[in-house]
Amino acid sequence: MAIFTNSKANVLQLLALFSSGVLGQNLNKPVLFSDGLSPHVDSVFFQHLTPTQSTWDKWGWGWIPQACLSVVQGTQFSPYDIEVYNVHYTDCASAVVMCRHNQAQMSIINMIDAFGRIPIHDRQWTQHILALPAGGCSAGTGGAVTTFYGPCYIPSVFVHELTHTLDAFVNDKTGSTGAVHVYSTTSSYLNSVNQDSCVPDGYANTSPQEDYAQTSVLALYEKVNPGGLDPIGPWRCLVNAKNNLDSIIGQELTPGGSCTHRWADSAIVCMGPAAGCTSSKRGFEGRRGLKPVGPKPNPANKKGDPLVLDLLPDLASVVNAKITDFSHLSSNHTAGIEATIRINAWNKAAGKETVPVPKA
Ligand SMILES: *[C@@H]1O[C@H](CO)[C@@H](O)[C@H](O)[C@H]1NC(C)=O
Repeated sequence: MAIFTNSKANVLQLLALFSSGVLGQNLNKPVLFSDGLSPHVDSVFFQHLTPTQSTWDKWGWGWIPQACLSVVQGTQFSPYDIEVYNVHYTDCASAVVMCRHNQAQMSIINMIDAFGRIPIHDRQWTQHILALPAGGCSAGTGGAVTTFYGPCYIPSVFVHELTHTLDAFVNDKTGSTGAVHVYSTTSSYLNSVNQDSCVPDGYANTSPQEDYAQTSVLALYEKVNPGGLDPIGPWRCLVNAKNNLDSIIGQELTPGGSCTHRWADSAIVCMGPAAGCTSSKRGFEGRRGLKPVGPKPNPANKKGDPLVLDLLPDLASVVNAKITDFSHLSSNHTAGIEATIRINAWNKAAGKETVPVPKA
């Protein structure tokens, strides 16, 4: 996912890189793993990325965050088939709003569990996540929104995507201003990559942004695996890039603590004319035999809230996110069953809805 392809900042950086001859779309380096990262990291992530306690509730039908609507409008899917959820994790006072197509392979439980395993100081930079249907897992990130297509209940995919957002917003030691300033394409990062004799995998070779995202998967692995990175293989061929990345987003990749930043949520809008959100019949019966429209939800995060910056991530970047297919993934059905039981228990204790546990 070359993110923010539309953003002026990124275009300028790319031009600078081309003119200095550094970029070249392909990094052309030997790879640490020729079969991708997932087979090497996801079992450890499922065991050592601790699920964060949460509760969830579903929005009444008819309302949707603008960012979700814009993504869906760029696909063959109907906005009327999107479910919207508030997810309250115990490490942050305000909810995360997630959007899910009712036929998506990822359940809301899968979304809550995988997202909640990501360290809060990383997760807090993502504004919204969406799940849409597809045969295989692919994903795209832009403007602090990540869209997952198909069966992406895979921790390393979540880590990778969320790093694209960190790469854009958490990039310099002078602090996070909320402005887009991609770090992975700076000469500082590229020089480290040049000093290394490998990149994580073939996908990392496709661009500095992808290399940075894949390297972050290994940096997180190092932090959470009790034996660090050494058991994984001869990873020191990328130690310079890994250390450089750690100096920039190592804190974000470290589990623990509570949220210190939130984006304002994307504006809450009507799914479309058939939802009749503004009609006098609202709340009784949607038009065209659709479901009744719920009351307009309040935003979980808005400007003026203590942790919320004034800047909003760019909506155009959300829509223009480049989508990438992930390969060599296998879903973890056992983890999905355990997550359902766990999250159901949390929701039940809070007097909220539960869902059927998938069959073993
Ligand atoms: C699946 O998840 C379980 C935890 O529920 C974990 O112990 C196991 O290692 C995972 N397996 C894979 C292949 O990811």
